[in-house]
Amino acid sequence: MPLVTSKEMFKRAYEEGYAIGAFNVNNMEIIQGIVEAAKEERAPLILQVSAGARKYAKPVYLKKLVEAAAEDSGLPIVLHLDHGEDFEICKACIDDGFTSVMIDGSRLPFEENVALTRKVVEYAHERGVVVEGELGKIAGVEDNVKVSERDAIFTDPDQAVEFVERTGVDSLAIAIGTSHGAYKFKGEPYLDFERLQKIMEKLPGFPLVLHGASSVPQEYVDMCNKYGGDIPGAQGVPEEMLRKAASMGICKINIDTDLRLAVTAALRRYLAENPAVFDPRKYLGEARDAVKKVVQHKIRNVLGCGGKA
Ligand code: G3H
Ligand code: 13P
Ligand code: ZN
Repeated sequence: MPLVTSKEMFKRAYEEGYAIGAFNVNNMEIIQGIVEAAKEERAPLILQVSAGARKYAKPVYLKKLVEAAAEDSGLPIVLHLDHGEDFEICKACIDDGFTSVMIDGSRLPFEENVALTRKVVEYAHERGVVVEGELGKIAGVEDNVKVSERDAIFTDPDQAVEFVERTGVDSLAIAIGTSHGAYKFKGEPYLDFERLQKIMEKLPGFPLVLHGASSVPQEYVDMCNKYGGDIPGAQGVPEEMLRKAASMGICKINIDTDLRLAVTAALRRYLAENPAVFDPRKYLGEARDAVKKVVQHKIRNVLGCGGKA
């Protein structure tokens, strides 16, 4: 099956109250693990590539691997640029055959974010590519958002409406309390569901995106720690919060950290338990199986998109 855009995927996800998993990919084993899980679960899929991943693997490799995954699995797969920071990288990915790009102008003042996003939308739409924008700041744990700061950092519902109308974006990443990486909350996990509800009411039927949505399973943190290294105090978004967000109207849930933890845990364990093995297929195969297990769990217990492909 050729690569698809997320248009139809999001429409159905919104109507039926589930979310599509958007998983970050860096190499063949990660792609294969994700796709094997999605195939068994018959789940639609977004595979996303960051600027860092593009640089690591070289653009052509990841694109060809994702195309191979779509051909081999027969699944509807979106090839998406994650956190494109300027027009040039979005243009390069569109020209390369990506079916979706994110332009992340969230660091910019509102008017500049609108102008940059609008420019990418014009270029993308003329070529049949869809665009995700971002409004609000997806903060890190070092600046854990205080109640008094929420209005300044989280997505403002009225601004979200204006942003969507003026840019023509196809989906919008919003800030309601999640953050990237393995350290998401200093204290109790908190997502601003009231704000999500308001944004949804003002933008009925419009697909919203949740970044920083790894749940950081303790099982993988413990395994990483047991077999070397130390990942202290890691904390993710509780799965019930993600399920609630998906049922409310979040159509795309971004997951990278959980895959990184699963790969690292599997490699550390395998190499510790099999010190004489030096065939990369053995330990990279373990990592691939670990990715598959995580994605299968997400599809069944968090996203609810199984059987929707
Ligand atoms: O949101 C960022 C993703 O986790 C990708 O991370 O830029 O290190 O590839 P990266
Ligand atoms: P996590 O770090 O929570 O996996 O978030 C990934 C993400 O948002 C990629 O854009
Ligand atoms: Zn992100």
